[in-house]
Amino acid sequence: TPKKAPPMPGDVLVHAAGEKAGQPVTEADLSDQVTRAWPMGKDAEGAPVIRDGDPTSILAIFKFPEGELKAPTNLDATVNGQIVAYGDRCTHAGCNVDNGTAPSGKSIMNCPCHSGQYEPREGCKVIGGPPPAPLPQLPVKIEGGQLVATGFFLTRPFGYPSDEEWQHYT
Ligand code: FES
Repeated sequence: TPKKAPPMPGDVLVHAAGEKAGQPVTEADLSDQVTRAWPMGKDAEGAPVIRDGDPTSILAIFKFPEGELKAPTNLDATVNGQIVAYGDRCTHAGCNVDNGTAPSGKSIMNCPCHSGQYEPREGCKVIGGPPPAPLPQLPVKIEGGQLVATGFFLTRPFGYPSDEEWQHYT
């Protein structure tokens, strides 16, 4: 069903929580802290539908100052090399990954389940704990002031047990 579907090209990303829940994410909402969002597509009748029925569709979006995002982030799949979106389910066991702080004081991502850590400025590579793979990047653009998905996850997300299942959407 559209509600249970993964993010699709053209989906508008909407806030998953807080005062703005259900409203489109705009550039002004973003920072180096996690903004959680769901993709919003359309049902068969063309009515908007938030794809919150598949836990793997939850996203974490960031905006970093110019120059901070670097490889292995796919910069072509970001907005101006500054706004980046990732799937927000830990590749270890599927928990939602949240804000964390590195010993240097820099913001990172931390998984509350077994302390997996990711660096969102570098493609969400694993920098600590048990996760076997980075969080998958979702390609995005800005259209009409809203953040919009332009494709499916660039690497296999937790919740897609085989590469075949993931590549079906890519
Ligand atoms: Fe995230 Fe285990 S589920 S570290």
